[in-house]
Amino acid sequence: MKLPLILIGLFCGLCCGLDEKRIRPSQGEFFEWLGSIFLPPVTTTTTSTPVLSTSTTTTRRTTKSTTTTTSRPTVANFPIERDCVTCRCGLINTLYKIVGGQETRVHQYPWMAVILIYDRFYCSGSLINDLYVLTAAHCVEGVPPELITLRFLEHNRSNTNEDIVVQRFVSRVKVHELYNPRSFDNDIAILRLNQPVDMEHQRLRPICLPIQSYSFDHELAIVTGWGAQKEGGLGSDTLREVQVEVLPQLDCRNSTSYKPGQITDNMMCAGYILQGGKDACSGDSGGPLQATFDEQPGQYQLAGIVSWGVGCARPQSPGVYTRVNQYLRWLGSNTPGACHCMPYPEEDY
Ligand SMILES: *[C@@H]1O[C@H](CO)[C@@H](O)[C@H](O)[C@H]1NC(C)=O
Ligand SMILES: *[C@@H]1O[C@H](CO)[C@@H](O)[C@H](O)[C@H]1NC(C)=O
Repeated sequence: MKLPLILIGLFCGLCCGLDEKRIRPSQGEFFEWLGSIFLPPVTTTTTSTPVLSTSTTTTRRTTKSTTTTTSRPTVANFPIERDCVTCRCGLINTLYKIVGGQETRVHQYPWMAVILIYDRFYCSGSLINDLYVLTAAHCVEGVPPELITLRFLEHNRSNTNEDIVVQRFVSRVKVHELYNPRSFDNDIAILRLNQPVDMEHQRLRPICLPIQSYSFDHELAIVTGWGAQKEGGLGSDTLREVQVEVLPQLDCRNSTSYKPGQITDNMMCAGYILQGGKDACSGDSGGPLQATFDEQPGQYQLAGIVSWGVGCARPQSPGVYTRVNQYLRWLGSNTPGACHCMPYPEEDY
């Protein structure tokens, strides 16, 4: 797979005046969400037809390295029956003004996971409960779990003496059964940690899963990652964020350089069609596209997963993300044994 090519022009003007249509999920929607987590799975139905991607279509992971791996401890067992602490998902650690493409505050997005393969940075992921990380299928397909290391509470990847970094190994890689490596349809995978993370005593926190019936159209959402700051560039030392607008599906299908059939119902585009300039790039793959809940500016749900694009930040070629709320049942049935955090305080329902 070729690597992406162009520049992330992080400097184009922020698009002010866009209507942010944020809807606070109703209780019905919330229970729908809850139901989707705890109900048994239904048969997956996909209506999209796989299409061949164009030759310039690229994923946003870094190049696979072939260095040798180091030895690692054996996967530890932990009790299946556990007491879960009460916690809220999706809360960031600092409220901070967002501008296009800037370094984040340290641990501002406490669900961010660095995915190392053979001890080298490869992709990002998002903690969705205390035992599972969500990422893109193209990051981990065919990779044996024992080659993967996850690091949480990482900020500057080059800074080796960050004591606070939490490390986990992976005991299981679950790539979506219908992942199509040519069209990138169903580009989603779950990594099970060898040990749960402690959500009571560490600054770690999972991101909320998205509301099921929500389109995110026109929402301003935030992509975070350690990826390249320009097309063809190297990954960033520090975690960075950029704000992008989620495009309605029809706009992405008929007003971009993509063919309508390339954008399946399981994908979501975000960026700026006319001016480009802000996008995810190489190395950001698997990381979150996060959107707030209405009236809760410091609380995020996982709208998308960085999947693919043509180049980075080019006009007419917005970033394409896996549409996570198409997978709530699949996530529910593939994340056994986890403790979940809730989007709202308990007294709210
Ligand atoms: C990250 O850490 C390294 C090593 O300490 C340092 O040289 C580099 O300047 C840091 N990067 C940033 C963006 O702070
Ligand atoms: C895209 O297609 C939809 C549905 O046919 C239409 O409403 C919309 O105006 C089109 N957008 C553009 C920019 O052509």
